[in-house]
Amino acid sequence: MKRRIYYFTGTGNSMRAARVIAQKLGDTEIISMRTDPSDYPASDCEMVGFIFPVYHWTIPAPAVSFVEKLDINPKAYVFAVAMPSLICGIACEKLAEILAGKGIRINYGGLVHNVANYAIVYPPFPPAKLVIPQAEKKLRQIADDIIAKKEQPYPRANRFIKWRRDRVMGPYLELQKYADNPFTVSQDCISCGTCSRVCPCRNITMENGRPVFRHHCANCMACVVSCPKRAIGYDITSGDRELLKEVSLKTPIVRIMGLPAKRKLYRNPYISVNDLTKDCEQWPKEE
Ligand SMILES: Cc1cc2nc3c(=O)[nH]c(=O)nc-3n(C[C@H](O)[C@H](O)[C@H](O)COP(=O)(O)O)c2cc1C
Ligand code: SF4
Ligand code: SF4
Repeated sequence: MKRRIYYFTGTGNSMRAARVIAQKLGDTEIISMRTDPSDYPASDCEMVGFIFPVYHWTIPAPAVSFVEKLDINPKAYVFAVAMPSLICGIACEKLAEILAGKGIRINYGGLVHNVANYAIVYPPFPPAKLVIPQAEKKLRQIADDIIAKKEQPYPRANRFIKWRRDRVMGPYLELQKYADNPFTVSQDCISCGTCSRVCPCRNITMENGRPVFRHHCANCMACVVSCPKRAIGYDITSGDRELLKEVSLKTPIVRIMGLPAKRKLYRNPYISVNDLTKDCEQWPKEE
């Protein structure tokens, strides 16, 4: 019986987590949620893992659609690891709800805080050199727990987060369907196609040597941080102005969205741009 870990990643934190855990487990496949779930089912797996960042206090929408379509062995040991920067919110509860609909229970839930990567809102924080070593240590502990098939409840949102979620995150979620309207591509673009290859939502096609955004963007930041020429920008004023006006009345943060030319960008130091283009990897046991 197989072991498979499914991950969604923009800037590599979740892919790194999948690799660390897979390597410790040994003989484990890690599969990006950019793939078609019917190509990599979990119906014949004895162990199934889900690893994902947290977006707007919940699990990213592409991960939701992936898990909804995935066939899973109801007898498998199932684990979930959320990788927020600060607030996990209802991310694991939402995953648990989808799995429960398939008659599946999460046996083990883990939480690993990592560098905040939302480049079009803020520079990365806290510093990677402080956060990454702690995250690596926590991932190894989690891997040991999983090897022992430990049972541990998944993280849940506290009452305050549940109470404030609609008010604080509602406007962002409303904006989500327009998330890629404000992307700009400068004259520095060399038509290399890297942005298109790293996109976990397959949201970028190349047309006449220029990237075209296809309006099913998760704002994961993979394209932004992978462009070798830093040609991708974000200009919120180029989006739907009426909608923006309406949304920014509800949350002033929308008004500061953008990508200053000198803003530092973040990608997990163990994950290369090429790694972000991968669909599936098999990890033998680490030496
Ligand atoms: C669109 C977006 C929304 C985010 N929302 C949250 C959030 O609600 N809570 C949080 O703690 N971190 C949030 N983050 C930060 C990421 O969850 C965090 O940096 C994560 O480790 C990135 O994982 P990745 O490198 O696998 O993409 C957000 C990042 C993005 C891009
Ligand atoms: S990665 Fe950058 S340079 Fe390459 S095609 Fe995309 S925008 Fe152009
Ligand atoms: S277009 Fe860019 S930000 Fe949007 S999902 Fe694709 S890689 Fe992520």
